[in-house]
Amino acid sequence: MKEVLRSATDVRSRLTGWVGKQVLAHLSKSGFDLESSWLVPSRVLAPLRRNGLNPVPELARMHARGPITRLPLPVPVWLVTGYEASKSVLVDSESFSNDFGHFKDLGLFAEEAPGGLGFSDPPEHTRLRKVLTPEFTMRRLSRLIPRIEAIVTDQLDLMSMKDGPVDLVEDFAMPVPALTICELLGVPASEREEFQRRSVARFDLGGAATASLSAVSESVVYFRELVRAQRQAPTDGLLGELIRKHGDELDDDELAGLADGLLTGGFETTASMISLGTLAMLRDPDLLARVRDDDEAIGGVVDELLRHQSVVQVAFLRVARKDVLIAGTRVRAGDIVACSLSQANRDPSVYPSPDDICPSRSAGQHLAFGYGAHRCIGAELAKMELRTAYPALVRRFPEMRLAVDPGALSFRKLSIVYGLHSLPVHLGQHTRPIPPGL
Ligand code: HEM
Repeated sequence: MKEVLRSATDVRSRLTGWVGKQVLAHLSKSGFDLESSWLVPSRVLAPLRRNGLNPVPELARMHARGPITRLPLPVPVWLVTGYEASKSVLVDSESFSNDFGHFKDLGLFAEEAPGGLGFSDPPEHTRLRKVLTPEFTMRRLSRLIPRIEAIVTDQLDLMSMKDGPVDLVEDFAMPVPALTICELLGVPASEREEFQRRSVARFDLGGAATASLSAVSESVVYFRELVRAQRQAPTDGLLGELIRKHGDELDDDELAGLADGLLTGGFETTASMISLGTLAMLRDPDLLARVRDDDEAIGGVVDELLRHQSVVQVAFLRVARKDVLIAGTRVRAGDIVACSLSQANRDPSVYPSPDDICPSRSAGQHLAFGYGAHRCIGAELAKMELRTAYPALVRRFPEMRLAVDPGALSFRKLSIVYGLHSLPVHLGQHTRPIPPGL
């Protein structure tokens, strides 16, 4: 009986963000094979699965029966698949709480709650978000554009010096956002290589669905040290700026938590978008030609790829604070609500032929970055990276092609943030950079 109860407890916590990751980590450590377990109804896992570049058909079938579905779990968990219904949840911080404390209260997690914005409610969320928002205005971010261009060019140069196929995930998709976050935060140049290594270990992008706890705490310890160093001598980056403006209001742990939250939010997601978007282009020569040849089109292409891929498959879990109607369905106080962003962005009532990638449709209102008070604070930064990385890549390597059969590509099987384990490509003819000093 104890076993059954434990399984029931395990089952109810597999849906989103850190929450899902903690459980996935716990189960994989205990040797539990989620993928093939008959204990977990397939409807529960559907929002965390994919079929190549598309959501699994089961999600569309659930959506055809209505925009919200009660999942077959021992505690009330609702999956929202409709676009409007998802917006109504994400925008309503009065009815739905993001506070991680609810999940601890359910006895699901022994470890400490993750810090940062995503797991806090107003007034705490409003306070922290207000501190960060000025650092993410277009005016401040535009100072990063030349740095992002330089980072992209450097990675392309490094790839072009390799012989044989390269792994676009390891050699391009991961370094670009990791180094961009270094620029954003003000990580000293001498620490960037180590920062990249730690970030990869932190998310374990190439291997299991979850990072080891030691890699996570290594990252948090590093951010604490960085904060202490920046207190002594604040530099131009975000952390130095926060210390100059808010050094008295925020303690070291809060600052380190914010920095870690930016790495958590901005690295894995953007890396996945770079590699999945590249794969979409390699499969569709018209799309690739548009990115290569039409500067005007890139903004629309990026938004359409964000909609289509919705790499954050499920938004942070919400808990209903009171009885509330979602698309006419009554949800009770204490119920858990998960919004399937990948399915909401394929809602055919908003996006006709939703599985097609149509760069000319105006997909700008997609939910890939969420909606409402918790909408991704790094959305503009992510778009800047993608608008720089895609065209630079396909222009530099016009003959790039997959180095393996498409059927041999390995995608994450069960994940909050979807992605490819690797993307082996032949770069084809291209100009090698002139080594310095020649
Ligand atoms: C393609 C890249 C990205 C995608 C698809 C993405 C997606 C998302 C989504 C879906 C949410 C949660 C919305 C919710 O549950 O309400 C979120 C929140 C967040 N993201 Fe991003 N993100 C990306 C890049 C970034 C970047 C580059 C940063 C920063 C460097 C970042 C930092 C954050 C933070 C701090 C939050 C929490 C915001 C809050 O709760 O107020 N993200 N993101």
